[in-house]
Amino acid sequence: MSEAPHGAPIKTPGQLIAAIIAGFAVPVVIIILLAVYVNNTTRTGAGTDMFSDASVAARIAPVAQVDIRDANAPRVYKTGEQVYKAVCSACHAAGTAGAPKFGDAGLWAPRIAEGYDTLLHNALTGKGAMPARGGTSPDDYSDFEIGRAIVYMANNSGGKLEEPAQPAPGAAAAAAASGAAPAAASGAQDNSQAAAAVAALAAVPQTTAAPAAGAQSADASQAGKALYTQVCQACHAAGVLNAPKFGDKAAWAERLKEPMDTVYGYALHGKGAMPPKGGSTASDADVKAAVDYMVSAAK
Ligand code: HEC
Ligand code: HEC
Repeated sequence: MSEAPHGAPIKTPGQLIAAIIAGFAVPVVIIILLAVYVNNTTRTGAGTDMFSDASVAARIAPVAQVDIRDANAPRVYKTGEQVYKAVCSACHAAGTAGAPKFGDAGLWAPRIAEGYDTLLHNALTGKGAMPARGGTSPDDYSDFEIGRAIVYMANNSGGKLEEPAQPAPGAAAAAAASGAAPAAASGAQDNSQAAAAVAALAAVPQTTAAPAAGAQSADASQAGKALYTQVCQACHAAGVLNAPKFGDKAAWAERLKEPMDTVYGYALHGKGAMPPKGGSTASDADVKAAVDYMVSAAK
C-alpha cells in the first residue's frame, strides 16, 4: 500500500508566512465589519433626530421666556364669551362659592338691577368671594373685556345689557396707566372718561414752538393757560383718573405740601396715571406755566 500523500497544507516558508498573516488579518477584518455594523444600527435607530437643530434648540431653550408685546399694536379684544369661558366660568358656571350661576335669571335679576356700572365696578375691584377681575391681571384682560364678559353672562341670564363701547385705539396707554394707579383702576366712568381724554389728546396739535426767551415771563401765564386748555384739561378739568381737579382747593392743597420743584417734576416726568407733560411735547417752560396756571386757580 503506497502511502497516500498526506500533505500538510503548509509546505513552504512562504505559505507559513501567508497563513500567519491571514490568521491575524481575518479576525481584524471581521471585528472592523462588526463594529461598523453595530454603529450603523445605532445611527438608524432611536437616536436619529436627537441631534437635529430643532430638538437641540428645544432642549437648550431657556426655562423662562419673555413675551414681548408691542404696546402700539392694534389690540384684538376677546369677546365676552371667550373671557367667560377662559376665566369666569370657573365659578359662574356652577355657582361656586356663591357666584351667581350662569343662566339663572332669578339669581342675576337683583344684580342686573344694580346697573352695569356697579356690576363692572364690583367685577373689577372684587366683591365678597369674587376676586378682582376674576383673578386676572389688567394685562391679560382689559376692563373692556371684563365688561363684555359681564354683559355676556347677564344677557344669558335674563338681562338686556348693552355691549360696552370699545375703547378708542389710543386708550391702551390709559388702560395700562390706570392699572398702575390702583386708586384709579376702578370705575367704569373713570375708564370711559380716560379713553375719551386720551382720544382727545391724540387730536391735540403738538406745541413745539418754544416761546421767545425775552417774551417768556410776560407770556408765561398766557402760554400756561393755552397749554392747559389744549392738553391738561382733558384730565384735570373733570379729575379723570383721580387727577387733581382744576379749581379744587382741597385736592391741590394736598399736592402743594410738596415743594414746587417736585410738583413741576411730576408734571414734566409723569406720576402714576399722569403722563409726562400730559402726553404733549410742550416745552418745559410751558408745562411749568400750565402748572402755575392750575395752581393759581386752586388758591
Ligand atoms: C373664584 C370664583 C370667581 C371667578 C373666577 C369669577 N367670579 Fe364673579 N363672582 C364670584 C362670586 C362668589 C360672586 C358673588 C359675590 C357676592 O355677591 O358677594 C360673583 C359675582 C359677580 C358679579 C356680580 C357682582 C354684583 O354686583 O353683584 C359679576 C358681575 C361677576 N361676578 C363677574 C365676573 C366676571 C366678569 C368674571 C370673569 C372675568 C368672574 N366674575 C369670575 C366668584 C367668581
Ligand atoms: C391723561 C390724563 C392727564 C393729563 C392729560 C394731564 N394730567 Fe396731570 N395728572 C393726572 C393724574 C392722574 C394725576 C395724579 C397723579 C398721581 O398723584 O398719581 C395728575 C397730577 C398732576 C399734578 C400734581 C402732581 C403732584 O402730585 O404734585 C400736576 C402738577 C399735573 N398733573 C400737571 C399737569 C399738566 C401741567 C398737564 C398738561 C400739560 C397735565 N397734568 C395733563 C392726569 C393727567
